[in-house]
Amino acid sequence: MSDRAAAALLAIRRTSNLPGLSAAAQRIIERVNAPDVSLAELTALIEPEPEIAMSALRMVNSAFYGQPGRVSSIQRAVTLLGVRGVRTVAIVSRLSKMLDVMATGSFSASLLWTHSENVAMTARALASRLRDVDGDDAFVAGLLHDIGYILELSVDRRRFVTLVTRTQRGEQDQARQEVELFGASHEEFGGGLCQHWGLPEQLTAAVANHHAPLQAPLIHRRLAAVVYVADRVAHAETPAFSLDVAAAPDPDVLQFLGVSPETLADVGAQVRATLKAREGSRQTGQTAR
Ligand SMILES: [Fe+2]
Ligand SMILES: [Fe+2]
Repeated sequence: MSDRAAAALLAIRRTSNLPGLSAAAQRIIERVNAPDVSLAELTALIEPEPEIAMSALRMVNSAFYGQPGRVSSIQRAVTLLGVRGVRTVAIVSRLSKMLDVMATGSFSASLLWTHSENVAMTARALASRLRDVDGDDAFVAGLLHDIGYILELSVDRRRFVTLVTRTQRGEQDQARQEVELFGASHEEFGGGLCQHWGLPEQLTAAVANHHAPLQAPLIHRRLAAVVYVADRVAHAETPAFSLDVAAAPDPDVLQFLGVSPETLADVGAQVRATLKAREGSRQTGQTAR
């Protein structure tokens, strides 16, 4: 482990106002990894947890799942989500809550959340075109990839505002600023947080290496590369989020994944179509209210 990654872990352990997963979410994550888990057991774990149950229904009824008709039963939602999808929901239900309370002056937590959702959706779309990257892992890693920002915000709100202001003014390199202000980057904080929560190693590795995927351990490199590419595609399609990178993906990473310019354009088109559908369903919802 590098000195900076160790510093990030130490900061995580010392941060008393650290956002945490609920006991129920932790139990679900634990059981999802067990070989003898069943959908019936997961349904029974979710049903008494309103936060997670709501999140499961919201997920299967979202444009990402493209389900015809509304799903209102938890049992049906769990069947549609599958075991890994349930793990996603357990994490997501908490993340959106954390982001709600973390808003600060010049930084919009909802923009970070929208960015994370877009990267998740893009990562899944890209993974579906590759044979060896699990779509649900790609989705969760996409949702979590920038979670390190939340940690920086929890460590020192004032310094975080300085980071946002300096980045928005285009002063210096953002990664350098983060190390100067917090002693580690948001990737290192994010990876440390995933480790602290006991999330599977591939998610931790993808989050920790989402800006330099070719440095990830070989067995997790493709997932990290999918998140890296998805981050950049999502930035190009939805440029509102002001922190982080906006450049086109590195050709070496695309070559490593075996993603052609046509496939990339195809993923971009799919993302645009999903965003349009989401926008449409939001507007219909507003009119209906
Ligand atoms: Fe990032
Ligand atoms: Fe990002």
